[in-house]
Amino acid sequence: MKTIKVNLRERSYPIYIGDDLYKEIDHIPIFKNIGQKWVIISHHIIMEIIGNKIGSLLRSSGFDCENIIVPEGDAAKNTVEYSKIISQLVKFGCDRKSVILALGGGVIGDIAGFVASSFMRGIKYYQIPTTLLSMVDSSIGGKTGLNIPEGKNLIGSFYQPAGVLIDPKALKTLPFDEVHAGISEIIKYGAIQDKIFLNNIDDWLNDINSFPFLEAILKSCKIKSKIISKDEHENDLRKILNFGHTIGHALEAYFGFEKIRHGEAVAHGMICASWISKETGNLTDREYQKLCKIIKKVPLPNIREFDPDRLMGYIKLDKKNEVGNFCFILLNQLGNAIVEQNISEKLIIKSFEKLK
Ligand code: GLY
Repeated sequence: MKTIKVNLRERSYPIYIGDDLYKEIDHIPIFKNIGQKWVIISHHIIMEIIGNKIGSLLRSSGFDCENIIVPEGDAAKNTVEYSKIISQLVKFGCDRKSVILALGGGVIGDIAGFVASSFMRGIKYYQIPTTLLSMVDSSIGGKTGLNIPEGKNLIGSFYQPAGVLIDPKALKTLPFDEVHAGISEIIKYGAIQDKIFLNNIDDWLNDINSFPFLEAILKSCKIKSKIISKDEHENDLRKILNFGHTIGHALEAYFGFEKIRHGEAVAHGMICASWISKETGNLTDREYQKLCKIIKKVPLPNIREFDPDRLMGYIKLDKKNEVGNFCFILLNQLGNAIVEQNISEKLIIKSFEKLK
């Protein structure tokens, strides 16, 4: 088992990464059982695949462990589900010593983390991610949130977990396409921070079926934890983690989650952001072509038919944009990202050509 530390003074925590980690979860050194309630929050499919086994292991080692099942997908991330979870915690007799185990992908991590941040003014929680996206991104850094009809993540907090436990072998229980789509977030880390890592990913993608997930997750988590340690509240540096996400989020909103996965939308978004980097004189054509080639080694859905003005409308809705001022994460070389505040609408719309 490998350990990476997220350095945040009194809120520092470890990320443990190891194959078969979830089979030994009752022996995780940071799990201190003092007879308090331990509550797994997950959805029914993950419970069937892995959650029930984790619960049994913990119970057989003397943990007082309960489960709370939420709906699958974004349906779990709202105030109604939030209230239901809080009521269940009260029914279980939870108190300020109780511990939440957020078992699942980004949605589960967001809602379980928000519950942990607000139940009795904050209780301990651990992130146990089960998707590639959550292993390399959302489980680290303490972003928690809920959606309301007016927008996504409009309720939320920065609330760091007490630890993150990652078992790359758990990915074997997921459909191939699902896992492969998540590789774009790994490419993102190479593109924004580490050219050597990007070159390694390029090599690994020559045979996607033997992609070394453990090594790639480890490196991605190292890069993310370093960024979080320097800028926990996204004042500046942390923004670079959004490379490819401005157009990526707009594509998700435009096409819907059935047509395009988050990782695929980010892959398309990174191609557009790299093109904008080239057009603004930050990236050479050679670097741009090289990054596109790497990104396209993972199959992407065809999104030729769309209305550029409507797509641009979703970018305008992005709460990170100030009026008339489009903030974009660009690259000024492969392995180095910059935050650019003044990207014109015209250039953004022109970059959509690269989606075709
Ligand atoms: N997913 C971006 C961040 O954690 O800041």
